Amino acid sequence: MQEEYFFYNGVKFSTSIHSLETVNYAENEFVALEDDIFNVTYPKSGTNWLIEILNLIKYKGDAALSSKEPIYERSPWFETTQKDKVDTLTRPRIISSHLPIHVFAKSFFKSKAKIIYTMRNPKDIFISNFYFTKLLCALKNPESLQEHLENFLQGDVVYGSWFDHVKGWLTLKDDERFFFITYEELLQDLRSCVVRICKFLGQELDDEAIDSVVKHSTFKTMKENKMSNWSTMPSDVMDHTKGSFLRKGVAGDWKNHFTVAQNEYFDSVYQEKMKDFNVKLFWEK
Ligand code: A3P
Repeated sequence: MQEEYFFYNGVKFSTSIHSLETVNYAENEFVALEDDIFNVTYPKSGTNWLIEILNLIKYKGDAALSSKEPIYERSPWFETTQKDKVDTLTRPRIISSHLPIHVFAKSFFKSKAKIIYTMRNPKDIFISNFYFTKLLCALKNPESLQEHLENFLQGDVVYGSWFDHVKGWLTLKDDERFFFITYEELLQDLRSCVVRICKFLGQELDDEAIDSVVKHSTFKTMKENKMSNWSTMPSDVMDHTKGSFLRKGVAGDWKNHFTVAQNEYFDSVYQEKMKDFNVKLFWEK
């Protein structure tokens, strides 16, 4: 597959996944329903983990009901060529998106719909993304980690700059329709995160249902579940010989990849870009 890109309001998109029409639709025409739940992330922050958790919560921990369809159909991305699948979802719709806030659905801001925004240490996002470029045929396979590092830090990647994404979305941090969580918190204590998410959504699940949500959203269970591990994605879209979508599922894998110089370079760009940002993020503590 030939990778080609276009820009929309300064953000890079892939012609294999998006079109000007689909992104414009998401921003300007899509109508958010009052009970919609948006699963928003920068790519590789744990989007699919949240799809699993949110659908299990929707079905009160019933894993058979929750994973009747492949994970990418349960909560489609409304800015992609899969956007029409959103119309087939039962309510409350759980809709995924990687859009930065400045091109997000205008109708959301006038609605009572909710957003769960998941963040992850950008060094781990970067490494996860590096491997993902090998797996997903639509993405350009970088020559080297260093080349990809330059592109990532400059925001010259699909969905644009991680820094702009996080700083943009966290302007909503005090909005009652907005809930933010980190991948690292999910790793540290999945159960208490599930309880917090249920509370935010106003979903009352008993202990047994919560236990089931946790059990079916662990890395091991998702990796073994063909409805969750993307193995059902056709091989002209995802080259399954190049790795697994559920790759490692850990925090800190960047340490196995970065040279000292690359780490120092990342830190210096990070400090510069985040210097006016006053929210302490989990991995900075
Ligand atoms: P790694 O490549 O570091 O393993 P996204 O869904 O946003 O594309 O993110 C994919 C990343 O989330 C991958 O990271 C994947 O392994 C990880 N992931 C998915 N489900 C997970 C789970 N249940 N537990 C831990 N990590 C998970």
